[in-house]
Amino acid sequence: MISFNPASKTFKLDTPNTSYVFAVGKEFGHLVHYYYGPKVSDDNLSYLSLQDPNATQAWVEREKLSYVDCVSFEYPTGGTGDFRTTAMEVETQEGYSVLELKYDSHEIYKGKRKLSGLPATFAGEDECQSLDVILKDDILGLKVVLTYSVFENLDAITRSVKVINEGKAIYLTKVMSTCLDLYNEDFEVLKLCGTWARERRMERYPLAHGYQGISSKRGISSHQENPFIALVSPNTTQTQGQVYAMNLVYSGNFDADIYRNQFDYARMTMGINPYKFKWKLETNASFEAPEAVMVYSAEGLGKMTRTFHDLYRKHLIRSPYKNMKRPILINNWEATYFDFNTEKLLDIAREASKVGIEMLVMDDGWFGDRNDDNKALGDWIVNEKKLPGGLKYLVDEVNKLGLKFGIWMEPEMICPDSDLYRAHPDWAIAVPGRVAGKSRNQYVLDLTRSEVMEHTWNSIKAVVDSANIEYVKWDMNRPLADIASLGLDNDRQGEFFHRYVMAVYELQGRLVSSYPNLLLENCSGGGGRFDPGMLYFSPQIWCSDDTDAVERLRIQEGTALVYPLSSMGAHVSDCPNHILGRVTPFETRGHVALAGTFGYELDITKISKEDRDEIPKQVEMYHKYNDLVREGDYYRLASFADNNEYDCWMVKAKDESEILVTFVSVMNRPNMKPLTIKLQGLDASRKYKDLESGMVYTGDMLMYAGIRESRIWGDYKSKLIHLVEVK
Ligand code: GLA
Repeated sequence: MISFNPASKTFKLDTPNTSYVFAVGKEFGHLVHYYYGPKVSDDNLSYLSLQDPNATQAWVEREKLSYVDCVSFEYPTGGTGDFRTTAMEVETQEGYSVLELKYDSHEIYKGKRKLSGLPATFAGEDECQSLDVILKDDILGLKVVLTYSVFENLDAITRSVKVINEGKAIYLTKVMSTCLDLYNEDFEVLKLCGTWARERRMERYPLAHGYQGISSKRGISSHQENPFIALVSPNTTQTQGQVYAMNLVYSGNFDADIYRNQFDYARMTMGINPYKFKWKLETNASFEAPEAVMVYSAEGLGKMTRTFHDLYRKHLIRSPYKNMKRPILINNWEATYFDFNTEKLLDIAREASKVGIEMLVMDDGWFGDRNDDNKALGDWIVNEKKLPGGLKYLVDEVNKLGLKFGIWMEPEMICPDSDLYRAHPDWAIAVPGRVAGKSRNQYVLDLTRSEVMEHTWNSIKAVVDSANIEYVKWDMNRPLADIASLGLDNDRQGEFFHRYVMAVYELQGRLVSSYPNLLLENCSGGGGRFDPGMLYFSPQIWCSDDTDAVERLRIQEGTALVYPLSSMGAHVSDCPNHILGRVTPFETRGHVALAGTFGYELDITKISKEDRDEIPKQVEMYHKYNDLVREGDYYRLASFADNNEYDCWMVKAKDESEILVTFVSVMNRPNMKPLTIKLQGLDASRKYKDLESGMVYTGDMLMYAGIRESRIWGDYKSKLIHLVEVK
């Protein structure tokens, strides 16, 4: 899968349908990028790397700056005349910033090495092959290792970067994880943007000259931006068109930039955001940048999506739950907010146990003096006024009802009005002498300090050990600002953001390794940290605080563009919806939540009898379809965001034996054209039976003629169509 041609010093990385080719440039020994796209059989592609394929060595020597500013680089560096976006920048003790990396050596090996402390994809020796290319700047004594991996059966390439300092202490000011130079074929940019309760909406526009991209400076990957970017050819749809996509396995400040230059080349870079990043690298110290995933599809967005889903389900998510049905949970947040006690929770659990719900999750408000969102974060001691007998009593009682028990925590936080803050005011992130800004009346703990980290770990551990807790919802409800750490020297303050993310990874790593059977769900004010880094620790992430079934269509469409359905936290909540006031049918809320992890977020003791009676049917539906939804291939068939009428998606079993189509009618109008749902990705000759209508279709009928459905009368109605193969 990975080969090296010693005569031309060319590297070729092949996946089942793609090739990625670069070489040691004959001009100066830089790594020069040749090609990424559909599979090619030859590596003789050097003519692609320069504007003028006939440029002579004499011209290159005379016009080094022109050469450097137009050649396609594999890992461009700052200071030598490449005026496009760079992948790496340094600052020496003298304040100089020239870096020139030249090929030194390489190694091709089976399998994949771990990144220290960072989440990353993994694969066995028989499933994956990797390449390390070692580059050096001899003047600085800096060694840079570019690592690439390719996986069996997947059109994905992962990249990461390690910097090793063999010279004098130096500052790294930018280390991107990946870079891709492409000739611009009228590309459009695709990204996922949003805000709280409206996360990850797709946005697409033509690539303009200059810089454009997406990034986060919030210390988390964020609601506003997601560490995903793609270049797509014009008219790309779900089923056709070229897609070059990148996704960063990282949960903090990131930058994904695309620069279109004077010659119409596009350079995509992705990595840690260089904003406020300055990492001191002492002699013999090293720095590892997070992993980036690159996916190329020549068959539209759908193929890209399924490549990400398969890669993440097989090679990123580690939890033992990843291939298992998750317990159907009921969370008390929208049911009670802070107003609950043991009795109330047991009432909910009792009713839940009668309808097949399998776990009670106690959300915010069970600890310290927390009766609203103003105080007590950090005081992870159960509030016995609300929960007499403590967690142990409550959990035992819940267990006796046949339900598992889960708990909410926000371990990274500290409220100014908390015992923890009164004891350790300096543990909150703040610049000495300044009053830091609060958000939701809370500060963030400086987890980069070992005493704060150890205290936080002990608090989490004490909670999890105190009762039979089988699930933790790990929340994070504010961005980072007022950055400073008392634990870092002045010339290391620029390390803070990354060290913070590493500390969160350390804590979550300890949690999942100490409690291997614990189900962890990440959350950040809804979906503010929905990224591949988090998926390494938790098989599911709360998708959004917006549980409205219609708003969820767009949120889940954007999320599922990259992330597997099995990872999308989705619940049925009560109506009118708490965020929007919209009323949607209970059945539709169930169908939309079925596309994710599925659960409930309502007061089951208060909802109408009709809704309550629906729950056992929905529970049955979940058990019937979850294996298919969790493990199957996802196809987006229609988007309400595009057609303003309806949403439609399907999941096909890997063995193609069954298909589930979900259709949600959002906007009905009189005298509309008949609704035709055309399926995708089927074997033309297989036959499927619609179990409800009894109609038998061939695969080609389903794809080309489609299913004819009547419009459903009423607001926001939905329908499942289950097709089973008949021989
Ligand atoms: C965040 C979460 C919610 C809930 C609240 C509790 O907003 O996204 O689901 O847990 O915090 O304060």
